[in-house]
Amino acid sequence: MLDELHELESTGLAQLQNVADADALERWRITYLGTKGRLKAIGPAMKMVPSQDRPAVGKRLNEVKTALESAFGEKRALLAREAPRGKGPIIDVTEPGIPMGLGRRHVISKTIDEITEVFARMGFCVAYGPEIEDEWHNFEALNIPPDHPARDPRDNFFLAGGLMLRSQTSTVQIRTMARTKPPLKIISIGRVYRPDTHDATHYSMFHQVEGLYVDRNVTMVDLKTTLFQFARAYFGPQAEVRMRPSFFPFTEPSAEVDMKMKVKGRWQWTEMGGCGMVDPNVFQAVGYDPEQWTGFAFGWGIERIAMRRYGIADIRWLFENDARFLRQF
Ligand code: DAH
Repeated sequence: MLDELHELESTGLAQLQNVADADALERWRITYLGTKGRLKAIGPAMKMVPSQDRPAVGKRLNEVKTALESAFGEKRALLAREAPRGKGPIIDVTEPGIPMGLGRRHVISKTIDEITEVFARMGFCVAYGPEIEDEWHNFEALNIPPDHPARDPRDNFFLAGGLMLRSQTSTVQIRTMARTKPPLKIISIGRVYRPDTHDATHYSMFHQVEGLYVDRNVTMVDLKTTLFQFARAYFGPQAEVRMRPSFFPFTEPSAEVDMKMKVKGRWQWTEMGGCGMVDPNVFQAVGYDPEQWTGFAFGWGIERIAMRRYGIADIRWLFENDARFLRQF
C-alpha cells in the first residue's frame, strides 16, 4: 500500500512537470485529484490494510494528497503568470481602462434650472401640470372662445376623447388656481406641442416658462419690476426690459416683452414672449373673485432664450442629441 502511494506521488508529480497549459493542467487535476481520480480510488483499498498499519498508511495518504494539491496550486499559479498561450479571451488586468465619458446636463435642462433658480429667489414656487390636457384647461378657462383661431385643428395636436397635447404652459395657471386659494406666486416650466413644420426656428415640441402672481393690488409696476429683476439677475447688470402693447385672451392689458441681453458680445434686444394682467374672465373660470384679486402672468419660450444666449442657429440641433454639439455647453 505504501508502495502504491509512493508510485502515485512520483508519477503524479512527474506528469505535472510536463503540463504546459491550462487544458493539460485540468486533465491532470481530473486524473489525480478529481472525484473519480486516482487519489480517491485509494479510499476503498484502505479497508484492506491491517488495522495496526492504518495510522501510518493514513498519514502517508494525507502527505501524498497534500503534495499533489500544493504542486497543482503552484503549477496553476505559474501558468497564470506566464504569457497566455491558450485560446479564449485574454485579459491584461494591468492595462489602463477605457475612460468613461462623463455626461453633462443638456443645454435646455441647464437653462430651465437657471431660470427656476432666479425666480425661486424672488419667491416663485414651481408648479407642474400634465402634457396631455383637455380643451377647458388649454383654451376655455383661458378665455379663448371656441371660434378663436388658436383652436384651429391645424395648429394643435388633438387626441381622442376631447384631449390634446397642451399648446402652452398657461394651462398650469388654471390647474394651480383651481386647486389653490390666493395669494400665489408660481412658475411652471415644461413641454408644449404644436404641429409646426421643423426648420431652423420651429419644432413641434418646445419648452415654455410660465409665471403667475396673484394677490391683492397687483399692478403692471409689479410685473415690470419682476421682469426687470429677472433680466438683471439672469442676463447681467446691464440688461434692460421693454414692453410693447399686445393682445392675449387671458391677460388685459397685454404686452410683448423684450429683454436686452448680451448676444455674441453685443447687447441686443430679444423678444422673450408675452405678459399682462390676468383677465377677470380667467379668475372667474377658476372661482377667484375678480373684485378682490389681481395678478400678472407671463410666458416665454425656453429654446429661444437659450439659442440667443449661446448663439445656437438651429433649434433642431437641440433635439438631435449629437454629442459633439451638446459637449459645447
Ligand atoms: N401662452 C402664450 C403663448 O403660448 C404666452 C403667454 C403670453 C403667456 C402672455 C402668458 C401671458 O402667461 O400673460 O404664446
